[in-house]
Amino acid sequence: MGVMRIGHANLRVMELGSAVKHYENVLGMTTTHRDAAGNVYLKCWDEWDKYSLVLTPSDRAGMTHFAFKVEHDAELDTLKKRIEEYGLKTEILPAGTMPAVGRMLRFKLPSGHDMRLYAQKDLVGTEVGSRNPDPWPNGLRGAGAHWLDHTLLMCELNPETGVNRVADNTKFMQEVLDFYLSEQVVAGPGNSIQAAAWLFRTSTPHDIAFVGGPRAGLHHISFFLDSWHDVLKAGDVMAKNKVRIDVAPTRHGITRGETIYFFDPSGNRNETFSGLGYLAQPDRPVTTWTEDSLGRGIFYHTGDLVESFTSVYT
Ligand SMILES: [Fe+2]
Repeated sequence: MGVMRIGHANLRVMELGSAVKHYENVLGMTTTHRDAAGNVYLKCWDEWDKYSLVLTPSDRAGMTHFAFKVEHDAELDTLKKRIEEYGLKTEILPAGTMPAVGRMLRFKLPSGHDMRLYAQKDLVGTEVGSRNPDPWPNGLRGAGAHWLDHTLLMCELNPETGVNRVADNTKFMQEVLDFYLSEQVVAGPGNSIQAAAWLFRTSTPHDIAFVGGPRAGLHHISFFLDSWHDVLKAGDVMAKNKVRIDVAPTRHGITRGETIYFFDPSGNRNETFSGLGYLAQPDRPVTTWTEDSLGRGIFYHTGDLVESFTSVYT
Protein backbone atom coordinates (compact mmCIF):
# COMPACT_ATOMS: atom_id res chain seq x y z
CA MET A 1 0.00 0.00 0.00
CA GLY A 2 3.02 2.30 0.26
CA VAL A 3 2.69 5.35 2.48
CA MET A 4 0.02 4.89 5.17
CA ARG A 5 -0.18 7.97 7.41
CA ILE A 6 1.78 10.61 9.26
CA GLY A 7 4.00 8.90 11.83
CA HIS A 8 5.54 11.69 13.81
CA ALA A 9 6.68 15.28 13.84
CA ASN A 10 9.88 16.52 15.50
CA LEU A 11 9.47 20.03 16.89
CA ARG A 12 12.11 22.35 18.28
CA VAL A 13 11.15 23.87 21.60
CA MET A 14 12.91 26.57 23.56
CA GLU A 15 11.98 25.44 27.07
CA LEU A 16 11.50 21.71 27.42
CA GLY A 17 9.62 21.68 30.74
CA SER A 18 6.84 24.01 29.64
CA ALA A 19 6.64 22.28 26.26
CA VAL A 20 6.16 18.83 27.82
CA LYS A 21 3.54 20.28 30.17
CA HIS A 22 1.74 21.81 27.20
CA TYR A 23 1.59 18.62 25.15
CA GLU A 24 0.69 16.52 28.21
CA ASN A 25 -1.79 18.78 29.97
CA VAL A 26 -3.35 20.68 27.07
CA LEU A 27 -3.27 18.11 24.28
CA GLY A 28 -3.51 15.14 26.65
CA MET A 29 -0.46 13.28 25.34
CA THR A 30 1.70 10.90 27.38
CA THR A 31 5.49 10.87 27.53
CA THR A 32 6.70 7.43 26.44
CA HIS A 33 10.45 7.96 26.20
CA ARG A 34 13.27 10.36 26.95
CA ASP A 35 16.74 10.00 25.46
CA ALA A 36 20.21 11.00 26.60
CA ALA A 37 20.28 13.94 24.19
CA GLY A 38 17.31 15.47 26.00
CA ASN A 39 14.60 14.69 23.44
CA VAL A 40 11.15 13.85 24.76
CA TYR A 41 8.83 11.44 22.92
CA LEU A 42 5.04 11.54 23.34
CA LYS A 43 1.96 9.76 22.06
CA CYS A 44 -1.81 10.30 22.06
CA TRP A 45 -4.09 7.81 23.81
CA ASP A 46 -5.63 6.46 20.60
CA GLU A 47 -2.31 5.88 18.85
CA TRP A 48 -0.73 2.43 18.95
CA ASP A 49 2.86 3.24 17.98
CA LYS A 50 5.34 4.41 20.59
CA TYR A 51 5.32 8.10 19.72
CA SER A 52 3.98 10.68 17.30
CA LEU A 53 5.72 13.77 18.62
CA VAL A 54 9.36 14.41 19.46
CA LEU A 55 10.34 17.57 21.32
CA THR A 56 13.94 18.70 20.81
CA PRO A 57 15.44 21.43 23.00
CA SER A 58 16.66 24.34 20.88
CA ASP A 59 17.13 28.08 20.86
CA ARG A 60 14.35 28.53 18.31
CA ALA A 61 10.96 27.05 17.45
CA GLY A 62 10.05 25.12 14.30
CA MET A 63 10.13 21.61 12.91
CA THR A 64 13.30 19.60 12.34
CA HIS A 65 11.61 16.83 10.37
CA PHE A 66 8.40 14.90 9.95
CA ALA A 67 7.88 11.26 9.04
CA PHE A 68 5.25 9.10 7.38
CA LYS A 69 4.86 5.39 7.97
CA VAL A 70 4.85 2.93 5.07
CA GLU A 71 3.26 -0.48 5.33
CA HIS A 72 6.20 -2.75 4.39
CA ASP A 73 9.92 -2.32 4.91
CA ALA A 74 10.70 -3.38 1.30
CA GLU A 75 8.71 -0.36 0.10
CA LEU A 76 11.48 1.86 1.44
CA ASP A 77 13.78 0.43 -1.25
CA THR A 78 11.19 0.90 -3.99
CA LEU A 79 10.48 4.45 -2.89
CA LYS A 80 14.20 5.25 -2.54
CA LYS A 81 14.65 4.30 -6.19
CA ARG A 82 11.63 6.31 -7.30
CA ILE A 83 12.68 9.40 -5.36
CA GLU A 84 16.19 9.25 -6.81
CA GLU A 85 14.85 8.73 -10.32
CA TYR A 86 12.76 11.86 -9.78
CA GLY A 87 16.02 13.69 -9.08
CA LEU A 88 16.08 14.07 -5.31
CA LYS A 89 18.89 12.80 -3.08
CA THR A 90 18.06 10.23 -0.43
CA GLU A 91 19.78 8.70 2.55
CA ILE A 92 19.03 5.57 4.58
CA LEU A 93 19.30 6.12 8.31
CA PRO A 94 19.98 2.78 10.02
CA ALA A 95 17.53 1.23 12.49
CA GLY A 96 17.86 2.81 15.90
CA THR A 97 18.86 6.24 14.58
CA MET A 98 15.65 7.27 16.33
CA PRO A 99 14.58 5.26 19.36
CA ALA A 100 12.10 2.43 18.71
CA VAL A 101 12.15 3.04 14.95
CA GLY A 102 13.52 0.85 12.13
CA ARG A 103 15.54 2.18 9.24
CA MET A 104 14.38 5.46 7.79
CA LEU A 105 14.49 6.82 4.28
CA ARG A 106 15.38 10.49 4.45
CA PHE A 107 15.11 13.15 1.76
CA LYS A 108 14.26 16.79 1.34
CA LEU A 109 11.04 17.87 -0.32
CA PRO A 110 11.44 20.42 -3.13
CA SER A 111 10.44 23.01 -0.50
CA GLY A 112 13.46 22.03 1.63
CA HIS A 113 11.48 20.31 4.40
CA ASP A 114 13.17 17.21 5.85
CA MET A 115 10.82 14.24 5.29
CA ARG A 116 11.37 10.67 6.35
CA LEU A 117 9.67 7.36 5.68
CA TYR A 118 9.87 4.32 7.92
CA ALA A 119 8.07 1.00 8.22
CA GLN A 120 8.65 -0.02 11.80
CA LYS A 121 8.06 1.66 15.14
CA ASP A 122 7.60 -0.15 18.45
CA LEU A 123 3.98 -1.08 19.02
CA VAL A 124 2.75 -0.19 22.50
CA GLY A 125 -1.02 -0.25 21.86
CA THR A 126 -3.72 2.32 22.49
CA GLU A 127 -4.69 3.20 26.04
CA VAL A 128 -7.93 1.23 25.74
CA GLY A 129 -6.19 -1.80 24.27
CA SER A 130 -7.56 -3.97 21.50
CA ARG A 131 -9.53 -6.59 23.41
CA ASN A 132 -13.09 -5.58 24.30
CA PRO A 133 -12.00 -1.92 24.51
CA ASP A 134 -13.85 0.99 26.08
CA PRO A 135 -14.47 3.92 23.73
CA TRP A 136 -12.09 6.12 25.72
CA PRO A 137 -9.69 5.61 28.62
CA ASN A 138 -10.02 6.74 32.23
CA GLY A 139 -7.99 9.74 33.32
CA LEU A 140 -8.00 11.59 29.99
CA ARG A 141 -6.19 14.88 30.34
CA GLY A 142 -6.74 18.18 28.60
CA ALA A 143 -8.23 18.05 25.14
CA GLY A 144 -7.74 14.28 25.05
CA ALA A 145 -6.44 14.35 21.47
CA HIS A 146 -6.89 11.04 19.65
CA TRP A 147 -3.98 11.19 17.25
CA LEU A 148 -1.58 13.39 15.36
CA ASP A 149 -3.53 13.82 12.15
CA HIS A 150 -1.68 16.01 9.70
CA THR A 151 0.79 18.80 9.22
CA LEU A 152 0.59 21.98 7.16
CA LEU A 153 3.88 23.24 5.77
CA MET A 154 4.60 26.70 4.45
CA CYS A 155 6.44 26.63 1.13
CA GLU A 156 8.18 29.39 -0.77
CA LEU A 157 5.93 30.95 -3.37
CA ASN A 158 7.17 33.89 -5.41
CA PRO A 159 5.26 34.44 -8.65
CA GLU A 160 7.74 37.13 -9.72
CA THR A 161 10.68 34.75 -9.78
CA GLY A 162 8.54 31.78 -10.80
CA VAL A 163 9.34 29.86 -7.62
CA ASN A 164 6.37 27.74 -6.53
CA ARG A 165 7.36 25.09 -4.03
CA VAL A 166 3.67 24.33 -3.34
CA ALA A 167 3.27 23.09 -6.90
CA ASP A 168 6.69 21.38 -6.81
CA ASN A 169 5.88 19.52 -3.59
CA THR A 170 2.40 18.58 -4.76
CA LYS A 171 3.72 17.14 -8.02
CA PHE A 172 6.36 15.14 -6.13
CA MET A 173 3.88 13.80 -3.56
CA GLN A 174 1.46 12.76 -6.29
CA GLU A 175 3.91 11.31 -8.79
CA VAL A 176 6.41 9.65 -6.47
CA LEU A 177 4.69 8.94 -3.14
CA ASP A 178 1.24 8.26 -4.66
CA PHE A 179 -0.59 10.89 -2.64
CA TYR A 180 -3.92 12.17 -3.95
CA LEU A 181 -4.92 15.80 -4.21
CA SER A 182 -8.19 16.56 -2.41
CA GLU A 183 -8.31 20.37 -2.54
CA GLN A 184 -6.29 23.25 -3.91
CA VAL A 185 -6.26 27.03 -3.99
CA VAL A 186 -5.55 28.67 -7.32
CA ALA A 187 -4.61 32.32 -7.76
CA GLY A 188 -3.07 34.81 -10.12
CA PRO A 189 -3.66 35.47 -13.79
CA GLY A 190 -6.00 32.86 -15.22
CA ASN A 191 -5.85 31.00 -11.90
CA SER A 192 -2.54 29.62 -13.08
CA ILE A 193 -0.78 29.55 -9.71
CA GLN A 194 -1.37 26.61 -7.37
CA ALA A 195 -1.04 28.55 -4.13
CA ALA A 196 -2.06 25.79 -1.69
CA ALA A 197 -2.74 22.06 -1.80
CA TRP A 198 -4.23 19.40 0.49
CA LEU A 199 -3.19 15.79 -0.08
CA PHE A 200 -4.11 12.41 1.37
CA ARG A 201 -3.08 8.78 1.61
CA THR A 202 -5.66 7.84 4.25
CA SER A 203 -9.39 8.26 3.58
CA THR A 204 -9.56 11.73 5.15
CA PRO A 205 -9.31 15.05 3.27
CA HIS A 206 -5.67 15.64 4.17
CA ASP A 207 -2.63 14.02 5.71
CA ILE A 208 -0.40 16.88 4.63
CA ALA A 209 -0.97 20.33 3.18
CA PHE A 210 1.22 22.96 1.55
CA VAL A 211 0.53 26.69 1.56
CA GLY A 212 2.54 29.31 -0.28
CA GLY A 213 4.38 32.01 1.65
CA PRO A 214 7.58 34.04 1.68
CA ARG A 215 9.73 31.22 3.13
CA ALA A 216 9.61 27.54 4.08
CA GLY A 217 8.47 26.65 7.58
CA LEU A 218 5.94 24.93 9.78
CA HIS A 219 2.43 26.35 9.84
CA HIS A 220 0.93 23.80 12.22
CA ILE A 221 0.66 20.25 13.41
CA SER A 222 -2.88 19.06 14.01
CA PHE A 223 -4.53 16.60 16.36
CA PHE A 224 -7.87 14.85 15.88
CA LEU A 225 -10.84 15.20 18.23
CA ASP A 226 -14.24 13.46 18.02
CA SER A 227 -16.71 16.30 17.82
CA TRP A 228 -17.43 20.01 17.65
CA HIS A 229 -18.14 19.88 21.37
CA ASP A 230 -14.65 18.49 21.95
CA VAL A 231 -13.18 21.40 19.98
CA LEU A 232 -15.10 23.86 22.18
CA LYS A 233 -13.95 22.01 25.29
CA ALA A 234 -10.36 22.08 24.01
CA GLY A 235 -10.78 25.87 23.89
CA ASP A 236 -11.82 25.78 27.55
CA VAL A 237 -8.77 23.71 28.40
CA MET A 238 -6.56 26.24 26.63
CA ALA A 239 -8.15 29.17 28.45
CA LYS A 240 -7.72 27.36 31.79
CA ASN A 241 -4.05 26.77 30.99
CA LYS A 242 -3.46 30.32 29.69
CA VAL A 243 -2.56 28.97 26.26
CA ARG A 244 -2.30 31.60 23.53
CA ILE A 245 -5.24 30.95 21.20
CA ASP A 246 -4.66 32.01 17.62
CA VAL A 247 -8.08 31.37 16.09
CA ALA A 248 -11.12 30.59 18.28
CA PRO A 249 -13.34 27.61 17.32
CA THR A 250 -14.70 27.92 13.80
CA ARG A 251 -15.07 25.92 10.60
CA HIS A 252 -12.87 25.64 7.54
CA GLY A 253 -14.51 25.61 4.13
CA ILE A 254 -11.49 23.67 2.90
CA THR A 255 -11.69 20.08 4.28
CA ARG A 256 -14.85 21.13 6.25
CA GLY A 257 -12.88 20.74 9.50
CA GLU A 258 -14.07 22.25 12.79
CA THR A 259 -11.01 23.82 14.29
CA ILE A 260 -9.19 25.79 16.93
CA TYR A 261 -5.62 27.10 16.49
CA PHE A 262 -3.25 27.87 19.31
CA PHE A 263 0.46 28.06 20.10
CA ASP A 264 2.72 25.92 22.22
CA PRO A 265 4.93 27.88 24.66
CA SER A 266 7.69 28.18 22.02
CA GLY A 267 5.29 29.58 19.42
CA ASN A 268 4.78 26.44 17.32
CA ARG A 269 1.21 26.53 16.03
CA ASN A 270 -1.03 23.61 17.00
CA GLU A 271 -4.53 22.75 15.85
CA THR A 272 -7.13 20.47 17.31
CA PHE A 273 -9.89 19.72 14.87
CA SER A 274 -12.91 17.49 14.44
CA GLY A 275 -14.96 16.33 11.51
CA LEU A 276 -13.48 13.83 9.09
CA GLY A 277 -14.89 16.07 6.38
CA TYR A 278 -15.77 13.63 3.66
CA LEU A 279 -14.69 10.31 2.29
CA ALA A 280 -11.46 11.03 0.47
CA GLN A 281 -10.98 8.54 -2.34
CA PRO A 282 -8.54 8.48 -5.26
CA ASP A 283 -11.34 9.06 -7.77
CA ARG A 284 -12.95 11.98 -5.89
CA PRO A 285 -12.96 15.12 -8.04
CA VAL A 286 -10.46 17.70 -6.76
CA THR A 287 -12.08 20.65 -4.99
CA THR A 288 -10.71 23.98 -6.20
CA TRP A 289 -10.93 27.30 -4.34
CA THR A 290 -10.42 30.53 -6.21
CA GLU A 291 -8.83 33.66 -4.78
CA ASP A 292 -12.18 35.52 -4.45
CA SER A 293 -13.53 32.77 -2.14
CA LEU A 294 -10.32 32.06 -0.25
CA GLY A 295 -11.60 33.77 2.92
CA ARG A 296 -14.54 31.35 3.13
CA GLY A 297 -12.23 28.49 2.30
CA ILE A 298 -10.07 29.20 5.32
CA PHE A 299 -12.62 30.58 7.81
CA TYR A 300 -16.01 29.64 6.47
CA HIS A 301 -18.22 31.69 8.80
CA THR A 302 -16.65 35.12 8.60
CA GLY A 303 -14.88 34.71 5.28
CA ASP A 304 -12.26 37.06 6.67
CA LEU A 305 -8.64 36.40 5.88
CA VAL A 306 -6.70 36.88 9.10
CA GLU A 307 -3.35 38.29 8.00
CA SER A 308 -1.32 36.81 10.86
CA PHE A 309 -2.69 33.36 10.08
CA THR A 310 -0.51 33.06 6.99
CA SER A 311 2.30 35.41 7.97
CA VAL A 312 3.15 34.09 11.44
CA TYR A 313 4.79 30.67 11.48
CA THR A 314 7.89 28.88 12.72
FE1 LIG B 1 -4.89 21.67 9.85
